[in-house]
Amino acid sequence: MMGFPDVRLRRLRELEPVRALVRETRLSPSRFIYPLFVTHGHGVRQPIDPMPGCFHLSLDLLAEEAHQVADLGIPAVLLFGIPAEKDPVGSGAYDPEGIIQEATRVIKKEVPSLMVIADVCLCEYTDHGHCGIIENGRVDNDQTLEFLARTALSQVQAGADMVAPSAMMDGQVRAIRETLDAAEQKNVPIMGYAAKYASSFYGPFRVAAESTPQFGDRRSYQMDPANRRMAMREIESDIAEGADIVMVKPAMAYLDVIRQARERFDYPLAAYNVSGEYSMVKAAAQMGWVDERPITLELLTAIQRAGADIIISYHAKEVARWLRKG
Ligand code: PBG
Repeated sequence: MMGFPDVRLRRLRELEPVRALVRETRLSPSRFIYPLFVTHGHGVRQPIDPMPGCFHLSLDLLAEEAHQVADLGIPAVLLFGIPAEKDPVGSGAYDPEGIIQEATRVIKKEVPSLMVIADVCLCEYTDHGHCGIIENGRVDNDQTLEFLARTALSQVQAGADMVAPSAMMDGQVRAIRETLDAAEQKNVPIMGYAAKYASSFYGPFRVAAESTPQFGDRRSYQMDPANRRMAMREIESDIAEGADIVMVKPAMAYLDVIRQARERFDYPLAAYNVSGEYSMVKAAAQMGWVDERPITLELLTAIQRAGADIIISYHAKEVARWLRKG
């Protein structure tokens, strides 16, 4: 057995060039996805209070934002929409002239190289704020599937390069795959929000997307934070339904789930560094209690080290800037 004093682990930490040589995890903007919130109106660049640095953007300001994202080397945006009106069946989600469909057209016209990923869910578009159709006071799984499939198809027809179903309905990936295939959209990949937990870390997003449920909560469809084995079953089932990329969400408090998914499945794995995780860093940094740049880099590095290939993060733009400057 070799040990001290023959082995000195600090040798590899003495000089920065050596540290760089033996570094196991390197962040790259090419693995980032940047979420954007799109809204109606003109000249709107309204700050989202709990998410400093994030905005509601109107369509006319979208091209400039898309250019910035692409110039930073970030390959994709994930679009969320704030519709003009909400109703019980979330009509705005699958309206061919809906906010996401219009936003997609703008980006694909102005910055074709930037990939558009559309979030497929109803919660931003329903007046009750749930992710599906309500029947007798409950979210009805099977009725919802048709609406999600319709939403995905309308997004793809508007030019979306990928769809990401996040409603946590059983069978949603399959329903979307079948609908896309039937419409000759066989090459559009699906990124399934496979293991999506019922998390308090979504709080700021719900403020941003105005999607807080008006009654009850999402625990009948999103996962119990206490469960890891169940996450593996969720991922397995998304893969069986035809998902091309699978996701764990949130990220920071679920690194064990990311690691296990990485070891178990040979599929590209995304992790969603969600709004509450972002807000906590921003708030503590604003108070002067943590050093924002190194703590953000440390967190994203940890998410990648845990096993994520793809990181969806509101930090994506600033981190891409920091990485560029070195
Ligand atoms: C839509 C959706 C949510 C998020 C992404 N897609 C909210 C929710 O499920 O309540 C959360 C993203 C974030 O917190 O950053 N269902």
